[in-house]
Amino acid sequence: MGIKIALSNHKGGVGKSTIVINLSSYLLKYYKKILVIDFDPQANTTWALCEYASEIRYKIEDILRFGVSNDTDNDKVAEKFEELVRQATVDMFRDNGQISLIGSSLALSQTKLELARYESVVYFRIIDIIRKVSNNYDLVLIDTPPSIEMLTAAAVTASDYIIMPITLDLLAMNGAMDIKQVIVPTAHKYYNPDLKVLGVVINKWSKTNVARSTKEIAKKTFGSELFKTEITRSVKIGELATTRGTVDYRSPKTKSDVEFIALAEEIYKRIKG
Ligand SMILES: Nc1ncnc2c1ncn2[C@@H]1O[C@H](COP(=O)(O)OP(=O)(O)OP(=O)(O)O)[C@@H](O)[C@H]1O
Ligand SMILES: [Mg+2]
Repeated sequence: MGIKIALSNHKGGVGKSTIVINLSSYLLKYYKKILVIDFDPQANTTWALCEYASEIRYKIEDILRFGVSNDTDNDKVAEKFEELVRQATVDMFRDNGQISLIGSSLALSQTKLELARYESVVYFRIIDIIRKVSNNYDLVLIDTPPSIEMLTAAAVTASDYIIMPITLDLLAMNGAMDIKQVIVPTAHKYYNPDLKVLGVVINKWSKTNVARSTKEIAKKTFGSELFKTEITRSVKIGELATTRGTVDYRSPKTKSDVEFIALAEEIYKRIKG
């Protein structure tokens, strides 16, 4: 089963999607088959990785709706479930491996409401679904929405690790602390005692006095959880919100490229232990 990493911080705009999108490419150096699951109805990651995202017939919301309301342990249902997952998965082949995407759309927010009627069972079913769709991959990256809610909690709980991106402001750091203090202990208590914080990554770094002093607070707050690599605020990364794609393809040999190479290596080394 693939190693599952949820990118999470309920503060918006800290770089969860940007980091998932880019890591899916940079981590191909270490993992040959990577699955990206977009758990955010904003669907930014889906848009960035797949040009024809709007044409994909099935998305994560269809998988969740089917998986929650049917018993996927039953052989016949399991066959249908696998077919649905196959149809919802977009495979992209690169020289050094394969990135697959299970995308989302705004309809995920409606599905979430529909699923609420199943109450607590749904939470465990979603965890089970994430584990099932992750089976055939070496690594799975899950993008989560900027809120602490059932979908986020289920994605984090289903994972082996979480990575929390922060920007250097206290609200972003509080967002990461909330995930650490609320969602992680709940996951430990009820479902996944092995869930670990893989690290906290500073994004949109810039060499200002405020950033420098806030970084000291981040060091004190997160200690060794803080990745050594910071992702600097860069025009090249910002441009991806218009051009789609990843830094290694759009802007190779730039500072951002070097930083993502270093972050991917740190992530790989931390997982390897
Ligand atoms: N290092 C960076 N340099 C410049 N722009 C960046 C950088 N990281 C992210 N951005 C830009 O900041 C915005 C927010 O980033 P992103 O969407 O990745 O954050 P997010 O945490 O996923 O947001 P949300 O919480 O809404 O899902 C995007 O427009 C993105 O292009
Ligand atoms: Mg996002």
